[in-house]
Amino acid sequence: MEEDDGYFGERVAASDDDDMDIFEPGVVNVIVDVLAKLAGRGRALELGVGTGRIALPLARRGVPVHGVDLSRPMVARLRAKSGGDAIGVTIGDFATAKVDGTFALAYLVFNTISNLTTQEAQVACFRNVAAHLEPGGCFVIEVGVPELRRLPPGQDVLSWHVSPERVVFYSYDLATQSKCGHYVYFTEGRPEYSTIPFRYVWPAELDLMAQLAGLRLRERWGGWEREPFTGESRQHVSIWEKPLS
Ligand SMILES: C[S@@+](CC[C@H](N)C(=O)[O-])C[C@H]1O[C@@H](n2cnc3c(N)ncnc32)[C@H](O)[C@@H]1O
Repeated sequence: MEEDDGYFGERVAASDDDDMDIFEPGVVNVIVDVLAKLAGRGRALELGVGTGRIALPLARRGVPVHGVDLSRPMVARLRAKSGGDAIGVTIGDFATAKVDGTFALAYLVFNTISNLTTQEAQVACFRNVAAHLEPGGCFVIEVGVPELRRLPPGQDVLSWHVSPERVVFYSYDLATQSKCGHYVYFTEGRPEYSTIPFRYVWPAELDLMAQLAGLRLRERWGGWEREPFTGESRQHVSIWEKPLS
């Protein structure tokens, strides 16, 4: 791990855009539609902006976007893309980093809230967002519902992906609400192992964090197409708002 860049150092940054499924226009456009509507004529703040998968198309819709990220290699890739110069970026931890001005929208997509590995840091993140939102502004999170129903008693590892190129497993510690990604990438047949720690978090716990930060739930969907959120939903898109007064 490159300490300064968190778990998204040069090697991860170099392969980030290879996960083509999440870069598909059909996947990205539906997310950007929702975010552009919420931002209206205001500014947007992306926490964990990465290589700009969402920030760049959102900026192309006319929404001024500012990003926060710990990883210089991820941000270097954003900068190298067309339109990358138009995205202001603050290098720092999105639980605590301060950015000038206020925003109509803040968003944290692709499970990135779970990169904060303590409850304290996740609570701090909500407070930090609330401090950056203008009254009436929204905070959007996209994150998976913890998959504990797939874990039979005595088992604490789930497979995610197995192919000749890549093997991915997640291990769970139910006592500490922690989850760990285990990644084996094969380059010319040679395996390379890496790991990333996460903290899984429940929708109701996120609502409590929002409440602590003075935000209230406006919408919760099972996906970006505004699907109903049910007991069977595997992910959710939640929108909290900062009251007008
Ligand atoms: C999975 S990538 C998602 C990037 C982008 N949001 C997207 O949807 O494609 C997660 C990003 O969050 C950044 N990140 C993780 N934890 C962070 C933290 N505590 N503060 C700032 N950035 C963080 C990583 O460096 C990485 O660029």
